[in-house]
Amino acid sequence: MSDASKSTSSVLPPSPRAHTAGAKVLAVTSGKGGVGKTFVSANLAAALTKRGYRVLVLDADLGLANLDVVLNLYPKTTLHDVFTGKAKLENAIHKAPGGFSVLLAGSGMVEYSRLTPQVRNEFLEVVNSLVPKYDVIVLDTGAGISDVVLFAVSLASEILVVATPEPTSLTDAYATIKVLAVQQNRDHVHLVINQAARMGDGRAITAQLQTVLDRYVGSEAGKRMRLVHVGDIPIDASVREAVMRRQLLLLTAAGCPAAIAVSALAAKLDEALLKD
Ligand SMILES: Nc1ncnc2c1ncn2[C@@H]1O[C@H](COP(=O)(O)OP(=O)(O)O)[C@@H](O)[C@H]1O
Ligand SMILES: [Mg+2]
Repeated sequence: MSDASKSTSSVLPPSPRAHTAGAKVLAVTSGKGGVGKTFVSANLAAALTKRGYRVLVLDADLGLANLDVVLNLYPKTTLHDVFTGKAKLENAIHKAPGGFSVLLAGSGMVEYSRLTPQVRNEFLEVVNSLVPKYDVIVLDTGAGISDVVLFAVSLASEILVVATPEPTSLTDAYATIKVLAVQQNRDHVHLVINQAARMGDGRAITAQLQTVLDRYVGSEAGKRMRLVHVGDIPIDASVREAVMRRQLLLLTAAGCPAAIAVSALAAKLDEALLKD
């Protein structure tokens, strides 16, 4: 942040940010599918936009893209057109409700669910061209440890793993985090526990996962993978209602417990990753 914006930030919220260093690329991923990655990506983007950042969400779940459904946006021009050379990148970027930008995958992307050298190059080129234009790029990736998911995550400087308290979600999160440590040499990931029955449960869950990681990944790979617990989001009927109505929770039910938790998550990530 520039000195000028620092001095005015207390009197002029949301403060203007310095746009010099290029975007932080944050991959939102998970072990198991359906845990809330797209919900978190879209609403976190809205919350970070509110905090004064220029944010773009890229639908990087190429095979099972559904950010368009959540945002009720069906643009003519998508990432698919950019990958096939039918459109310029800037024409595939659209404004979402919530004020952030989106680059949607488009239905034709199913054919890209396999990681070919072409997909690799196109993906890399798209992210590289976006980095200078935003403060935060959120990659809403797929679940699991397929090549294409791991490649999308490899493009990010920071990772947010979404897990629910269900044992199946936690074992799959463990598998994903282990691969990130071993294959991508990551030494930390951020962890948010979504659909928590009680706020605060995530701390104990994180500590348990950390113990297992220390025991197995630490000894096998000879390095430590540190989990940074960045918050819990409660299970909240308003989330399902917002998805059914194809509206952003943060815009239509900003006072509900899940929306408050996503705003708190944005504040935490702002503090941890973005303010430097
Ligand atoms: N905190 C929550 N409370 C209640 N339901 C939720 C919550 N988070 C997600 N959901 C439900 O889970 C569904 C799947 O979420 P989604 O973001 O599409 O998952 P993913 O992108 O990981 O596949 C949503 O449509 C919503 O109905
Ligand atoms: Mg999704």
